[in-house]
Amino acid sequence: MRRKIVVGNWKMNGSLASNESLLKALTEKILQTIPVDIVVCAPYPYLSQTQSYLKNSPIRWGAQNVAKFESGAFTGEVSVSMLKEFGVSYVIIGHSERSTAYCESDENIATKFMMVKKAGMTPILCVGETLIEREAGIMEKVVSKQLDTIIEMYGEEIFDGAVIAYEPVWAIGTDLAASPEQAQAMHQFIREKLSSNTKVVKSLKIIYGGSVNPQNALQLFSMPDVDGGLVGRASLNASDFESICHSAEI
Ligand code: PGA
Repeated sequence: MRRKIVVGNWKMNGSLASNESLLKALTEKILQTIPVDIVVCAPYPYLSQTQSYLKNSPIRWGAQNVAKFESGAFTGEVSVSMLKEFGVSYVIIGHSERSTAYCESDENIATKFMMVKKAGMTPILCVGETLIEREAGIMEKVVSKQLDTIIEMYGEEIFDGAVIAYEPVWAIGTDLAASPEQAQAMHQFIREKLSSNTKVVKSLKIIYGGSVNPQNALQLFSMPDVDGGLVGRASLNASDFESICHSAEI
């Protein structure tokens, strides 16, 4: 059985004061014994604050992006080694909000994925199709292509121990989550695509993202190939996030 994982993506939300109450509430509500990996991905300036509240808790913390270079003249960028200094163990790569707004290419995403792995952190790679692509019936082709760039550049074994988040673009921030059956079909497709490497088969986690909430989490997480969730809005509310984490205890 793969241990489930629930990741909160705060996006560009929060303040020192609101983070403090959210993090305090989470550490009180989420007990050491919870049999689920729990992660919150905070904006860069709040990683230190997040680390100090979570370091003695079962909750890990992550970043929402990283530079594809080690260091140097890259104004505004943040490197893997900087993230490591703040105890970061997970990094979201290729979120559709970034790929669209900042025209991030599949090659850039692949390089970032490799940098995060090389630094000993866990990449959370976002893949997913737009509504037009789903309506055209080419969603598997689209997701397959997003994975192929990484496979071509670094081989399938780079997915050992990684997390892939299937996030249909049409489900993000819309309250229109994929149905459990739609999520299962894509997760199964991804797992089968990456099934030739036995290490990857055992260690890869595939989580669902896009309008996960306390009402739909249990049904989604009950599907055999859904290993947890990537949660945006509902991760900003401690009770909702706690409830979603408990839905993964199955
Ligand atoms: P949402 O965001 O849960 O608010 O839809 C999910 C995500 O973009 O990771």
